[in-house]
Amino acid sequence: MLVGKTLRDRYKIHQSLGSGGFGDTYLARDLEFPKDSFCVVKHLKPKDSKPDILIVAKKLFDREAQFLYRLGQHDRIPTLYAHFEEWGEFYLVQEFVEGHDLTEEIIAGQSWSEEKTIHFLQEILEVLSIVHQENAIHRDIKPSNLRRRKRDGKLVLIDFGAVKEISSLTVDSDGQTSATIGIGSPGYMPNEQSNGKPKLASDIYAVGTIAIQALTGVKPNQLEEDLNTGELLWRHLVPQLGDRTANFLSKMVRNHFKDRYPNASQALRALLTPIESQDTLASTATTLQATNLNESLPPKASLATIILGSTTAVAIAIAGLATLKILVSPSLSSIYQELETALAAQRWQEADLQTNKIMLRVAQREDEGWLDSRSIKNFPCEDFYIIDRLWLKYSNGQFGFSVQKPIYLETGNQLGEYNPIAYRSFGDRVGWRENGYWKSHNDLGFDLLMPKGHLPRWGPFNDLGDWEESIILKRCYS
Ligand SMILES: Nc1ncnc2c1ncn2[C@@H]1O[C@H](COP(=O)(O)OP(=O)(O)O)[C@@H](O)[C@H]1O
Ligand SMILES: [Mg+2]
Repeated sequence: MLVGKTLRDRYKIHQSLGSGGFGDTYLARDLEFPKDSFCVVKHLKPKDSKPDILIVAKKLFDREAQFLYRLGQHDRIPTLYAHFEEWGEFYLVQEFVEGHDLTEEIIAGQSWSEEKTIHFLQEILEVLSIVHQENAIHRDIKPSNLRRRKRDGKLVLIDFGAVKEISSLTVDSDGQTSATIGIGSPGYMPNEQSNGKPKLASDIYAVGTIAIQALTGVKPNQLEEDLNTGELLWRHLVPQLGDRTANFLSKMVRNHFKDRYPNASQALRALLTPIESQDTLASTATTLQATNLNESLPPKASLATIILGSTTAVAIAIAGLATLKILVSPSLSSIYQELETALAAQRWQEADLQTNKIMLRVAQREDEGWLDSRSIKNFPCEDFYIIDRLWLKYSNGQFGFSVQKPIYLETGNQLGEYNPIAYRSFGDRVGWRENGYWKSHNDLGFDLLMPKGHLPRWGPFNDLGDWEESIILKRCYS
């Protein structure tokens, strides 16, 4: 036990939060920060301390830590502050997420409503799609690894599996180093994962079993299985459940991974698809109804769209800045919701067009279909910030105006000024040009693999690109 010790003269271990087969987790205080600044220290102990193993473990640990630093930039994954090795043991220092585990919400014998379950599915699939876009498998999604954050009621995903492998590394008779213990938890872990071959769809299975547990009040390893097919038998436990949700969940937990949604983005898309029809748009509004926005925000960007009865307020919180509350007309609020829905489902092209629509609506230039110099000069920064934050959030920092700004400058442009040569090199960098030509809007390629800053496309109806958006950037971001 490390309680009472101080690691690296900096992290004072306060109390134990848990200990498992892979190591221990502690609540600690970061002495370099003001009083009461907590963090979480995970201590991973390799079972085998042979020098060969240590070399492999170090490499694996570094690689996983780099991945966790990147992933931790997402608002609903704890930020990784530091990683280090001492005397052959490994430590991760991460953001402390004040709140409680889902084990406190999913209670045996009690059942969640369908609506609450769908909201849960949307929340978890949103975070998981960020992980899956990196082609990474969490491998241990279960109620105790999902935290409900006290500050805003959002779900945070903790305890990524891969890094734990270092604790079970051994050398086999051929001199190969490999991890012996599989990661995962009985009931939440599908067959292919127990057989040591996890897939992205293994995480989908885990999410499905949690939702079924929430709906039925029965733990997944207590559910019966069809003896012939191996499929989980759960549907009869919730006869009142709508067919759509039931089919969606059944597909998530199919025995064979090829029968499930292949990854979180696709599952999310399937979950949100009917939202395109009018009657279900209302249900997005419900799910977007965020919990109260706390005044004291942590130094991480977070965003909430709040719908307050008939008056609509869109509130946005920006890192380190005050909370801005902007009253917008109901007609605008619904197109912001459509933007958020498109972004959450990663329909980037739709989101790009929606962005343009919002900008035209805000500037009252819908009839003209383009922004003139006057509307550019007067374009409200608040709306610009909301659009920017939504893009940043759902693209995990890949797209957005504030991502474009430094690239615009790096390619020799000045904000608010047009320099044809520099502007072309900006177009090359963000993937708006190819082989010396500007791409048409349809040919842009709308996915996360496109270069940083690729979206939103400025002036999407103008094939020459619309450098004038840099005037807004200059006004709002300097
Ligand atoms: N970033 C965090 N913020 C708050 N509590 C955490 C955090 N990370 C872990 N915990 C708490 O510590 C427990 C154990 O940590 P976890 O990372 O899940 O390790 P393991 O399950 O392998 O022991 C969690 O169930 C949770 O209650
Ligand atoms: Mg855990």
